[in-house]
Amino acid sequence: MTLAEKDRDFIWHPFTQMKTADPPIHIARAKGCTLYAADGKEYIDAISSWWVNIHGHANEHIAKAIGEQAARLEQVIFAGFTHTPAIELSERLIRILPEHFSKVFFSDNGSTSVEVAIKMALQYWYNGGAKSKLKIIAFENAYHGDTFGAMSAGDRNAFNAPFQHYLFEVNHLPVPDEENIDTVLKEFEKLADENNVAAFIFEPLVQGSCGMLMHKAEHLDRLLAVAKEKNILCIADEVMTGFGRTGKTFAINYLQHQPDIICLSKGITGGFMPLGVTACSQKIYNAFYSDENSKTFFHGHSYTANPLACSAANTSIDLLLEEQCKAQIEMICKSHHEFANIIRQNDFVKEVRQHGTILALELNTPENTSYFNSVKKEAYRFYLQNGVLLRPLGNIVYIMPPYCITTGELDKIYSVIELSLTHLKSITNT
Ligand SMILES: Cc1ncc(COP(=O)(O)O)c(C=O)c1O
Repeated sequence: MTLAEKDRDFIWHPFTQMKTADPPIHIARAKGCTLYAADGKEYIDAISSWWVNIHGHANEHIAKAIGEQAARLEQVIFAGFTHTPAIELSERLIRILPEHFSKVFFSDNGSTSVEVAIKMALQYWYNGGAKSKLKIIAFENAYHGDTFGAMSAGDRNAFNAPFQHYLFEVNHLPVPDEENIDTVLKEFEKLADENNVAAFIFEPLVQGSCGMLMHKAEHLDRLLAVAKEKNILCIADEVMTGFGRTGKTFAINYLQHQPDIICLSKGITGGFMPLGVTACSQKIYNAFYSDENSKTFFHGHSYTANPLACSAANTSIDLLLEEQCKAQIEMICKSHHEFANIIRQNDFVKEVRQHGTILALELNTPENTSYFNSVKKEAYRFYLQNGVLLRPLGNIVYIMPPYCITTGELDKIYSVIELSLTHLKSITNT
């Protein structure tokens, strides 16, 4: 039996219709931005492998830190015990987060960091005496993960349709723009006045999974001002936007009003280990700090604050803060901006959006904009055939590269995208 046959026979891949999907590409090794396949082909990883590998693959500093930590302490129960990598990571995070964040709670991935945030917000009010059902407000098109709380906060769509009866009710608010901002503000105020609202959760500035939709900091700030005035807790889901993606360390660094809780994952370990973090202000923490056992936050995962993951995160954050990495992020922002100006002239491009190192192109297909737009499959294949891993969200093609990418690699990605437009336009008959 070949490895490909074993994969087909034994593995169920994520987000994959196993009956119709092309066989997966077997990657043997990777370095920097290049994935080396077992059959000898090479691919530039233009999406940082689902947005996690911020420093590229097999970064020697992170690999070394994990190796040394593995020889020292690979795992220990995190209730009643602690360890140096977790202590050092919490200190680093508190140092780089806005001032009012004072505590970090660890979990395993983006979805669990969101579950923790929602539970923290609900129990914050419960511990304060609110025993009736409270509301959560989120944005339309939101995606916060695949566990039940995270799915509930997300918009209702084809991904969570089978589970809709089991999701708790959430009010989804239109994302504000120039035209609707006043109406959205009024709707937010109305919801706040008519309900006991526990929290407002949002992906700040860029809603990733729904197609890299972007909104202005100024508009989000106006909503946050209302939330503060109405005493609604604010949860920033920076699972995707955190750690430099938007050009600043966190997307909330563009805001005047700050959230009470922030969810972090993906880039936190540089893509080496799964890790989730939910950080909160002292106000939140104080609501749990009590002589009453019933006020305890009864939540935890077996791998909470895994020492290997924490040591990867410590090294990844140190690399992120180096001048060289900052210069690379600036280079990517500038390079994307120049390419955006060129590519938006193409008549097969409906819209170009950029925030920091994230660049998205909405293709002008006859079919509506949707994750299930049929151009996706052909575009994905085309990019792979041309040596680039890009995984369009329907008719949205986006680039989210590792920060160590070279100008040569970026140019190759841009030219393959440019080439794809002619091909995709011809097959979609526009
Ligand atoms: C904003 C946001 N929140 C949460 C998640 C879920 O993260 P994970 O896939 O690590 O569970 C994602 C994943 O794409 C995300 O983009």
